[in-house]
Amino acid sequence: MKEFIQSLPKVELHLHIEGTLEPELMFKLAERNKLTLPFASISEVRNAYNFHNLQSFLDIYYQGAEVLLHEQDFFDLTWAYLLRCREDNVIHTEVFFDPQTHTVRGISFDVVVNGIHRALCKAEKELNITSQLIMCFLRHLDEEAAFETLASAQHHKDKIIGVGLDSSELGHPPEKFERVFKLALEQGFLTVAHAGEEGPASNIHEALELLKITRVDHGVRCSEDEMLVEHLIDKRIPLTVCPLSNIKLKVFQEMSEHNIVNLMRKGLCVTINSDDPAYFGGYMTDNFLAVHDAHPMTSAELAQFTFNAIEASFISEQAKTKLRAMTQDYLS
Ligand code: ADE
Ligand code: ZN
Repeated sequence: MKEFIQSLPKVELHLHIEGTLEPELMFKLAERNKLTLPFASISEVRNAYNFHNLQSFLDIYYQGAEVLLHEQDFFDLTWAYLLRCREDNVIHTEVFFDPQTHTVRGISFDVVVNGIHRALCKAEKELNITSQLIMCFLRHLDEEAAFETLASAQHHKDKIIGVGLDSSELGHPPEKFERVFKLALEQGFLTVAHAGEEGPASNIHEALELLKITRVDHGVRCSEDEMLVEHLIDKRIPLTVCPLSNIKLKVFQEMSEHNIVNLMRKGLCVTINSDDPAYFGGYMTDNFLAVHDAHPMTSAELAQFTFNAIEASFISEQAKTKLRAMTQDYLS
């Protein structure tokens, strides 16, 4: 089954590009940009990746991103991720980026988006990997900062398909960003949001109602509200679930307790994703393997995650048909 999973066509819908910064590249960029890291070695960095909740991860993750200064840095980061996609047979990916993590340090929005976008275009041409780009607002920052970020995105509407909401969920409910999301929707952006990762199921309700999201990032705490689960099933509202992330951040103590396979078997449109693979111990194949290890599945069930992700993706019907055919070919 390992070979089947490795070669299975995959579609990733929940991936923070800043979360793909491997310690090796962190050191390389620090040297290139003449910065001193608070770590003496690569193994010291990896040893620091012991998290007890979302915030303990975010603190180290924002610190790591400080080595990204120039357009070439954002290109190199994204290209390295896309090469990993090729290894895992990821055929389409929808990438999050956090402009505010960089603009607060004086890096221009254009530098960030242009570097990432250049790598995504190269991958489409050279690796046959298609993509979309989603800009996230940091929810621990205020509404005004999110409005400013949305204004910066106006020159890049050709590159950005949607807006999302990430960072610390507790204490920063969806309601805080209702007005920014309303404007983003009016401007033609699709909307998604992290909800029900550390926060309660009510955050999922609120994000659906107030932010008009078309899919829920994480959403695993929906299980605490049976009516909500029925609603997600009925309306085919997708969840972008990140199994290894959920274990690393103690959303579930063990993979055997994770609800993803149960939700899939109930008919919910759940997908498997890697979130911040450089920090959580694995890319797409690793996530599939970890879930399968704890909850053995048939090959049809494993492929269902790809079919769900194709359905949930932000691409044309024609592109979806093509990806479905590629997956079907692999199965037959
Ligand atoms: N930013 C990067 N990864 C995240 C996660 N898992 N939850 C919230 N914000 C994030
Ligand atoms: Zn995430």
